[in-house]
Amino acid sequence: MTKVVKIGGALLENPAKAVNEIRSLARGRTAIVHGGGMQITRMLERMNVPSTFIEGLRVTDESTLAAVCAALLGEVHTALIQALYQQGLPAVGIVGVVRAEKKSGPWGFVGANVRADATSLNAILDRGKMPVIPTLAMGKNSLLNVNGDETAAAVAVALECSELLFLTDVEGVKDAGSKFRQRRHDSKIESRESCHGGRSWSGACGPDDLRRCGVNIRPATHTDIDTIVSMIAHYAAQGIMLPRSHSGLAESLSNYVVADLDGQIVGCGGLEQYSSSTAEIFGLATSPNKPVRGTGSAIVEALIEKARSGNIAHVFALTLAPAFFQKMGFRTVQHTHLPMKVWKDCIACPKYGNCDEIAMVLDLN
Ligand SMILES: CC(C)(COP(=O)(O)OP(=O)(O)OC[C@H]1O[C@@H](n2cnc3c(N)ncnc32)[C@H](O)[C@@H]1OP(=O)(O)O)[C@@H](O)C(=O)NCCC(=O)NCCS
Repeated sequence: MTKVVKIGGALLENPAKAVNEIRSLARGRTAIVHGGGMQITRMLERMNVPSTFIEGLRVTDESTLAAVCAALLGEVHTALIQALYQQGLPAVGIVGVVRAEKKSGPWGFVGANVRADATSLNAILDRGKMPVIPTLAMGKNSLLNVNGDETAAAVAVALECSELLFLTDVEGVKDAGSKFRQRRHDSKIESRESCHGGRSWSGACGPDDLRRCGVNIRPATHTDIDTIVSMIAHYAAQGIMLPRSHSGLAESLSNYVVADLDGQIVGCGGLEQYSSSTAEIFGLATSPNKPVRGTGSAIVEALIEKARSGNIAHVFALTLAPAFFQKMGFRTVQHTHLPMKVWKDCIACPKYGNCDEIAMVLDLN
């Protein structure tokens, strides 16, 4: 069994304290992933490079990347390795096991689609050593600044770990009412920390779905309506989705599920039954402000599971994102393949006769 510990925030300001925390958790095969956001910000100030964030991600130009390397490798990484080593922990600092692609958009040298090299990591762990991995990835043409949690998840996925632990200086985990949870090991935290629990309709996650850990797919409730309406409205304004009203949503609330990340809604979707054998996946959207990779497919999988449990034989979607549904196993059909949808909804739609949405079907039997 392998364990991954991600350490970040102010804990890294005091490497000796960080080591004590790691020591209390590290039993058996353990890999450490560390960030260094605070130290990077300080280094940028020292180097007179302004810090800019877009959607919570640090914009990383060449000067910023130099400061990231200086702080992360020159300061945090070396101090942590030395502190671990002094306390008798068999730490081995390792750069080059994390790969990523340059994220498209205004972020510069920021990585997306983070992966880790299991062979190299296992070779180190098999020798009884503790790999220590900074959040810096090898891109095609340059180093890339990568998110700490994403890196930890990538390492955990590569190592098929039994536990992924996040050590942080934040006070605790808040529930939906913004109150701190009393216990760390409630069921939701458990599903984030022990990712071999098997994913279920209630949203725990399985080994292949580690990236989704912490995202719980659950039935929508009345308190979610505002968020769902505004999430869908965002895409409706771009002509990608049809808008949904508060009253319409309240009426059909039982059809909806939401993706809940520690009380924050990061996605939604619905399943509407059209006949004894057919249901539509509709209203599928992920948060434009806080996208969490894997959310859309987790929602669709949950809706498929819901359809299966209702003995539905086919689910369909009318969509402008056919490639996404194709990845989920759907095939393209003619609209005439879905007469019940056409007769119930489409004829009342302003786009009727001029519809640009692609009809896609998944057979469940
Ligand atoms: C479509 C949508 C729900 C996908 O959600 P998501 O959380 O980004 O999807 P996931 O992260 O689960 O992606 C699963 C796979 O589909 C791919 N994918 C996601 N959106 C895609 C799109 N629009 N077109 C093609 N592929 C897409 C991902 O790259 C990923 O592929 P990979 O595993 O090979 O890397 C989301 O992008 C969204 O809300 N779009 C705007 C609203 C919309 O179009 N809704 C559908 C209306 S029916």
